[in-house]
Amino acid sequence: MKLISSISDFQSWRQACSGTIGFVPTMGALHSGHLSLVHKSNSKCDLTIVSIYVNPAQFTPGEDLSNYPRDLEKDLEALSKFQVDVVFFPDDKQMYPQGFSTFILEDNFSHRLEGKSRPEHFKGVLTIVGKLFNIIRPSHAFFGEKDAQQIRVLQKMVTDLNYNLQIVPCPIVREANGLAMSSRNIYLSENNREKAGVIHRSLKKAEEMLVQGYHSVVEIREVVIAMIKTEKQIRLDYFSIVDNISLKEIHDNIEGDILVSIAVFFLDVRLIDNFTFQMDK
Ligand code: PAF
Repeated sequence: MKLISSISDFQSWRQACSGTIGFVPTMGALHSGHLSLVHKSNSKCDLTIVSIYVNPAQFTPGEDLSNYPRDLEKDLEALSKFQVDVVFFPDDKQMYPQGFSTFILEDNFSHRLEGKSRPEHFKGVLTIVGKLFNIIRPSHAFFGEKDAQQIRVLQKMVTDLNYNLQIVPCPIVREANGLAMSSRNIYLSENNREKAGVIHRSLKKAEEMLVQGYHSVVEIREVVIAMIKTEKQIRLDYFSIVDNISLKEIHDNIEGDILVSIAVFFLDVRLIDNFTFQMDK
């Protein structure tokens, strides 16, 4: 496992590579969800590259940029159990040198769901991932479905800007109580992590209602909100059912391929989760 922090050193190393190159971009604080992406890359590609970079441009002012968990030693230890050819960990000076003024904007999907609560978020994600794609030049890039909208926005960037690579969505990895794995779970006490299981349970309930044939967003939302309210420390940011192709909000009658998602604040920790569903006519 080679450790490279400089863009030019990485580019020199990259020149000599051949075969398929799997890329797992991360912001560190690695958990089993990230490691499942590395595992997937190992099974699909000849080489695997993991980047670790906490990207300031994707944090909204007032978010947890300065407290975001950083533990390179621990991350390297976790990655050493896999076939990782390079861990690339550049610093801010290299990624955003003084005078940096070019950003990537997606002007449709980015404004929905997470984009409403975190207006500059996807501009930051697209810019950093676009830069990393240019530096790493992967054939495949692996992303977790917990960030379903991120995948959609990145797929759009890959198509619109002609990146020659395949985005590989990978299933959400969950804690025993169903809580979706996230680097931010670290902020919660063990007791609160247990309580946060209600987020997944509320989505399971929504799914159950869809399976039973409920077509009304209003009825499903009511049940989900009531469940979330049972945990006093949790505040709902949004519960949303959108068309899974256009990501447009469905307000009443549910039809077709949908994405059901939720974002909450557990105290001040923002947590998200989702599932997709195909509604029979
Ligand atoms: O999903 C994440 O961890 C980040 O948004 C990513 C893709 C590493 C870009 O900073």
